Amino acid sequence: MKFTRRQILQSAAALSLLPIAARATPQVLEAREAIQRIAPQGFPETQVWSFDGTVPGAPIRVPQGSRVQRRLLNQLPQPTSVHWHGIRIDNAMDGVPGLTQDVVPTGGSFDYDFVVPDAGTYWYHAHNQSMEQVARGLSGPLIVDEANKPDVDQDLTLMLDDWRLDPETALIVDDFDNGHDLSHAGRLGNLVLVNGQFDPMFEVRRHERLRLRLINSSNARIFDVGLESLSGWIVALDGMPLEAPLPVTEAFPLAPAQRADLIVDVVAESEGTASLVSFERDGAFGLARFTIGEQNRDQGRQGIDPLPRNPLPELQDIDQAPVHRMVLQGGAMRWLESARIGDAELSGRELAQLGRFWALNGYAERPTDPFLDAQLGSVHRIEFVNETVFPHAMHLHGHHFRLVLEDGTLGPWRDTVLVDRGQTRQIALVVDNPGDWLLHCHMLGHAASGMMSWYKVS
Ligand code: C2O
Ligand code: CU
Repeated sequence: MKFTRRQILQSAAALSLLPIAARATPQVLEAREAIQRIAPQGFPETQVWSFDGTVPGAPIRVPQGSRVQRRLLNQLPQPTSVHWHGIRIDNAMDGVPGLTQDVVPTGGSFDYDFVVPDAGTYWYHAHNQSMEQVARGLSGPLIVDEANKPDVDQDLTLMLDDWRLDPETALIVDDFDNGHDLSHAGRLGNLVLVNGQFDPMFEVRRHERLRLRLINSSNARIFDVGLESLSGWIVALDGMPLEAPLPVTEAFPLAPAQRADLIVDVVAESEGTASLVSFERDGAFGLARFTIGEQNRDQGRQGIDPLPRNPLPELQDIDQAPVHRMVLQGGAMRWLESARIGDAELSGRELAQLGRFWALNGYAERPTDPFLDAQLGSVHRIEFVNETVFPHAMHLHGHHFRLVLEDGTLGPWRDTVLVDRGQTRQIALVVDNPGDWLLHCHMLGHAASGMMSWYKVS
């Protein structure tokens, strides 16, 4: 169909009656099925669920302080939503169905519109039936640039994901509600991809300085990340700059949903390779390779400055702040005897029949009342007591917090904290962002089978 000149004039006239802001149609972010080669050479292609046709979704990259507008269009066979992980966001834009918005049905849309206050490495992912939707591919990087970027030769985002594919067909194994996974370490895969590729290769030069933005978008896999022929520092965790860059001298853990920004120098010999590796029980395996091109830099840079600070609130007087205990319960070997769903107290057996194996403070589902009802501006400590025999990656929406270290001092800012089996870890935060915020384990099978709670800031 063609528009006549008359129609154009008419619609132009109609448009001019609208306020300026309403005219701009936000860029569409389409959640849809796609086919992509993700398995290694020689395997068939894989059917995935994607944002805009690729896994991971295309990086969304914006300057600090700018506004992100996306119209989510749901073309999936399931309802969905998008969560902007780690962004200290306006509550209505947080993407949690049943808490901050209605779920977006097939064929429906939702307009996300928010400002990104902090520079750093973040990500976006589906937040409905996340355990299935994220495993099928619904995630992508969200990078917020500092006004003054550090001096590096390359800035690379490496999104690490763990896929469970059928080795014959390369199709995603769709046993998302597998009770064994749910009650143990979660859904672990058999293929680790970086940016949707197996063992990708990056061209670098000797003595170059790289910024590596690592994002763990796995359902449940904790990477123990190490460097080979790369030497440098961790400069940010979960988006937030460290006050002092931390030299990488040994492997460090990267739990589901966590990010680490590294600044590293390529120290491999000419024509050699450097790599990012992950240490597993049966040895180290390569995640990504960096091949050294011919034209090398004469020499490397010396030393490093911390990244510029983000506008985080001051966290003071934590000694006086109330401590709220959250006990992590259940799972294999510590089976729940009973737990609550709403007002009902169910036995372990009844819970297992519902696919619930975990609980937070005795609740095997997000409770009606918040775990914490906090007054805007107040300071709180949350103590995670892990009574289970599995590690959990506890994530707060809406706020970053600081770890309270053994000696009572404050550690780095984070949005997701790994609490090892049997461990107790304390965090502290100022609640400066009003709304209803989720708090859950980011091993997505654990969240789906009971490890889900929320807190309120009013
Ligand atoms: Cu990464 Cu509740 O989310
Ligand atoms: Cu968990």
